[in-house]
Amino acid sequence: MREILFDERRLIIIPGNREETILFAAQQWMEAANKAISDHDFFAVALSGGSTPKAIYQQLVKMKESSVDWSKVYLFWSDERSVPSNHPDSNYYMAMEEGRLKELPLLPSHIFRMVAEENIEENARAYEDLLIEKLGGHALDLVMLGMGEDGHTASLFPHTAALKIKKGLVAANEVPQKNTWRMTFTFDCLNAAQHICLYAIGESKAQTLVDVLFSPYDPEKNPSQKVGTDTYKAHFILDEEAASLLLKKMDL
Ligand code: 6PG
Repeated sequence: MREILFDERRLIIIPGNREETILFAAQQWMEAANKAISDHDFFAVALSGGSTPKAIYQQLVKMKESSVDWSKVYLFWSDERSVPSNHPDSNYYMAMEEGRLKELPLLPSHIFRMVAEENIEENARAYEDLLIEKLGGHALDLVMLGMGEDGHTASLFPHTAALKIKKGLVAANEVPQKNTWRMTFTFDCLNAAQHICLYAIGESKAQTLVDVLFSPYDPEKNPSQKVGTDTYKAHFILDEEAASLLLKKMDL
């Protein structure tokens, strides 16, 4: 296990190989859940799409007998595609079915799917109201993020309108490069969370990580650069393969 304080906004954590990294992420999730529940009686987590978050969801299910009080866990999503809940591209479907989160003893009334397949602008406003109502002034406790090879995170894609939003927690975002619309949390919403985790596993993420961490700050081009604040550092949780090029670059 390696920890590198990259700068005042970002801590790099390299637990080891793929399995060790997934296990670390799931254990850290459980600790954050227990801490939040003892502090304010619920744990609000934002899930994402993508292959790395999926592997962590499956690991959480394997650990479901652990001490977490599942009835106090609230599931939100950091982004959603404009497809119905039973579509294989849906992030809700991915987490619940492929990630097997439906096997956890969660309360159905604590699972908050983003409805992005119709009236996306109106539904984004409604999701923001729901978030404020359920959290009663709290920020999210944990945000689980993946990172695309183009540097996007959640559905904050390069050069899209949601990157410019100054106020607001949830946006309907047109993504011309994918010829679609997505619903997404804004950076203000993601960065308010106490635990901001960006997970990356595998060689295919190695070059993007170098670009995100070492190229000049330009989140329009590289949105993942904007993850993390001075108050709450983002944890970049990487396996050895994903971290390989950045370690080389840092002479480590
Ligand atoms: C989405 C995601 C997205 C994802 C990354 C990484 O819905 O597209 O929320 O931000 O996490 O694209 O995905 P992979 O791990 O599959 O590359």
